[in-house]
Amino acid sequence: MIVTIDGPAGTGKSTTARQLANRLGFEYLDTGAMYRAVAAECLRRSIDPMDTASVGQLAQSLTITFDEGRTFAAGRDVTGELRTAETTQAASLIAQNPDVRSALIDAQRRIADERHIVCEGRDQGTVAFPHAACKFFLTADPEVRALRRQQELASQGTDVPLAKLLAEQTARDQRDENREIAPLIPAPDAQIIDTTASDIEEVVTRLEAIVRSKLESA
Ligand code: DC
Repeated sequence: MIVTIDGPAGTGKSTTARQLANRLGFEYLDTGAMYRAVAAECLRRSIDPMDTASVGQLAQSLTITFDEGRTFAAGRDVTGELRTAETTQAASLIAQNPDVRSALIDAQRRIADERHIVCEGRDQGTVAFPHAACKFFLTADPEVRALRRQQELASQGTDVPLAKLLAEQTARDQRDENREIAPLIPAPDAQIIDTTASDIEEVVTRLEAIVRSKLESA
């Protein structure tokens, strides 16, 4: 069974997806990490993220693998590079490249084939797995999302003004929602889950109940 969880950053999507997979005994696929791995590799090779042809070629030839929570690009451990501001910015740019998207979606389908898996991203229920058994789309108030990011950064020792984070988040959201291919929108059959006032535990419990009832009726 494939469960998809889509939505913008700061909705608790990654933690929810990981914990849900854990509770269900499913595998977990963080597709954002795949876009970030291509971006990190781009930066390392000094390829301009806007150089569509070169980035497309890179994504088509790069093998991305996961092992024990770590991410590898062509066998190189890139985990430490995935969440830097530079990689985050480059990932958002390269995610607009059709060749990157088709390479990564092919890879996602190969990984998910015949598995019980929770796939998390922006287009999992709409494009990558339109026939997924269970689809969720997480949302939350933009200020709350930026605040969560601010707290996450503060816990890592970095203080960033809320206004700056909110502005960057709005720019990324606009790029994600308005790009021509695979824009960030809920699948028509996705359940919309607003996490503004809920903690992760509540969200995971709610999703787990929905998936389990689907499993029972399957
Ligand atoms: O979820 P994240 O913040 O780790 O995603 C990193 C970037 O990749 C972000 O700009 C959105 C993009 N992305 C995407 O376009 N499609 C996906 N399935 C996953 C991520």
